[in-house]
Amino acid sequence: MKTIGVIGAGQMGVGIAQVSAAAGYRVLLADISQELADKGKANIARTLGRLVEKEKMSAADRDALLGRIETAGDVAPMAEADLVVEAATEREDIKRKIFENVSNVLGSEALLASNTSSIPITRLAQASADPARFIGVHFFNPVPLMALVEVIRGLATSDATVTAVDGFVKSIGKTVVHVNDAPGFAVNRILLPMLNEAVFALGEGVASVRDIDNGCRLGLNHPMGPLQLADFVGLDTCLEILKVFLSTTGDPKYRPAPLLVKYVEAGWYGRKSGRGFYDYSGPEPVPTR
Ligand code: 3HC
Repeated sequence: MKTIGVIGAGQMGVGIAQVSAAAGYRVLLADISQELADKGKANIARTLGRLVEKEKMSAADRDALLGRIETAGDVAPMAEADLVVEAATEREDIKRKIFENVSNVLGSEALLASNTSSIPITRLAQASADPARFIGVHFFNPVPLMALVEVIRGLATSDATVTAVDGFVKSIGKTVVHVNDAPGFAVNRILLPMLNEAVFALGEGVASVRDIDNGCRLGLNHPMGPLQLADFVGLDTCLEILKVFLSTTGDPKYRPAPLLVKYVEAGWYGRKSGRGFYDYSGPEPVPTR
């Protein structure tokens, strides 16, 4: 593999583009407009700038890494990619449209992967031209710092696709775990009920934001408390994932906490919108309840 396509220049797509370019791949980073793709690349430049300031990276290495990332406002350049990773909004209709569009330009040997955090791979593969060359690669946020990638095989995914994608993930310095195509795969299946339960506990007045988070940080040795982590993932994303769990399993244990729904309705999506269970307008996050 030489060229990696990344569709979606948000937090996850930008992270995947950064680690792929850092490993020496040529990267094609696309979004729905040239402006959004360029903004994504500018975010990478800003992150790398901080590493240069801290003398953790040389300016020459930063420039070389950025030089390997090309941006685009549509999927046409994906014709040159060996592997395309979709990292768009966690909505099935949006993802399906992308797979249909990319399939029109994708090379006959090229692989298509989704970074979905909850939508079944077997179902998404139906929107691609060749489900044998379709696979799930689930990265974790922040991509450059998190060691894990879940590799999820759909019912029709070929052995050759799994082997090639395993090789790619290892080549960018990540560890693979193989997970079957079940809602939330392994990690989110376990994580989201915990985050949701923390919001239930907050809503029921069990403890404050600060005490719930400090409790889990200090009592469980988690780097972030569950409410801060929910803000970090995005409360809208958490809600979307829980809805997928609920609709695909029918199991009421996945019903979203009413307070989570309310926050999303208020547009309080967490860190990205400046407010969630914390207020991010100052230098340090401040608990809001
Ligand atoms: N690229 C390269 N290096 C980077 C970087 C980047 N983008 N960003 C930061 N770094 C470097 C920094 O320079 C710093 O180096 P230094 O320690 O030598 O100065 C180092 O990485 C650590 O950076 P920070 O000080 O910002 O990191 P913290 O120690 O505060 O940890 C954290 C931040 C890693 C986010 C930690 O709080 C954490 O692990 N939180 C939990 C994250 C988590 O659980 N993620 C999974 C979410 S679930 C998910 O993603 C799945 C989805 O489907 C929902």
